[in-house]
Amino acid sequence: MEIEVKGGESEILGREGWGEAGCGSECSGCCCCFGESGRRIYGLQYHPEVTHSPKGMETLKHFLFDVCGVSADWKMEDLMEEEIKVINNTVAADEHVICALSGGVDSTVAATLVHKAIGDRLHCIFVDNGLLRYKEQERVMDTFERDLHLPVTCVDASEQFLSQLKGVVDPETKRKIIGKEFINIFDQFAHELEKKHGKKPAFLVQGTLYPDVIESCPPPGTDRTHSHTIKSHHNVGGLPKDMKLKLIEPLKLLFKDEVRELGRILNVPVGFLKRHPFPGPGLAVRVLGDVTQGNALEVLRQVDEIFIQSIRDAGLYDSIWQAFAVFLPVRSVGVQGDKRTHSHVVALRAVTSQDGMTADWFNFEHKFLDDVSRKICNSVQGVNRVVQDITSKPPSTIEWE
Ligand code: XMP
Repeated sequence: MEIEVKGGESEILGREGWGEAGCGSECSGCCCCFGESGRRIYGLQYHPEVTHSPKGMETLKHFLFDVCGVSADWKMEDLMEEEIKVINNTVAADEHVICALSGGVDSTVAATLVHKAIGDRLHCIFVDNGLLRYKEQERVMDTFERDLHLPVTCVDASEQFLSQLKGVVDPETKRKIIGKEFINIFDQFAHELEKKHGKKPAFLVQGTLYPDVIESCPPPGTDRTHSHTIKSHHNVGGLPKDMKLKLIEPLKLLFKDEVRELGRILNVPVGFLKRHPFPGPGLAVRVLGDVTQGNALEVLRQVDEIFIQSIRDAGLYDSIWQAFAVFLPVRSVGVQGDKRTHSHVVALRAVTSQDGMTADWFNFEHKFLDDVSRKICNSVQGVNRVVQDITSKPPSTIEWE
């Protein structure tokens, strides 16, 4: 490997000096580094930010505190106050803002923060797109209204979404259709607000997090043709280019644990903050293939509820980053009672993670899995096989799609 640092002598540290660092993946030779201590220039080629990287955090700390000399005097309270100032400087006193609440931690914390900054000039909307979990609408509306006092309009648009998704199997196409329908609904909502307040809302709040930004865009400065966008994710990839609303993304430099911390300061109920992440396209990425096939969504809701409730009953919910069920577009043979069946197969997925960028599959006890599987097959009509996903990320992703 040759490295040139113009105008000075560079020292190639190679793999020796950093022998225990590295991304921990099986590819060889991905950990390269160089340094020129005189000019304090260092280069690393691995992912120290990834939890699986041995000594990754140590490397980052060393770089920030010893090499760059910054001090760790940053508090979440300061960030909150700074963000409130930024929001107040961005949104003029007569301007209105809309926010789509998904029922997840990110959009809820983002909305609560913006509400603290501009009060009832924030108008939230919660859309039931027909792709939500069991009783989700009732559960989240209760928290928004009773605990957080957020101004929220609830719109039932299930028919609209599901008719557009009929027959669609490609996950990216599903995402785009869902994104487009959301935008149509927001436009309509904005139009109604304009009639009411005499002025169109000028901004849209999004709960975009830092991992969303990273996974949705090629790294800054890279050639788009040569780098991979992992997904046309959520918030970032899914908005139309001609959208008139300007974005407010107060969480876009934060990781999930930091958002939870901010939520705690903003008095979002702890139970709510600990909710597992749920993807924007909802059950559309958990029913593989056509979401409108048979009663797939209903079957999935019931299976998922049994799985999650069992996890809660076993006291495991907070030890897991994300758990959910997946509906597979295949049938398998079984025997129930004295009948041969040809029914649905569902998969259970539970992972631990720090930020969703890497994940390990969660190792349940045998008895837990046995109980859950029996309960699902006994109580959900049309399911005769339950499988468990035992892959980590990488090589898999968390969602199946
Ligand atoms: P993956 O499947 O990429 O997921 O390993 C990482 C985290 O992102 C969530 N996820 C999504 N969230 N829209 C979202 O809002 C999406 O299309 C989407 N796909 C994945 C996933 O649930 C996990 O927390």
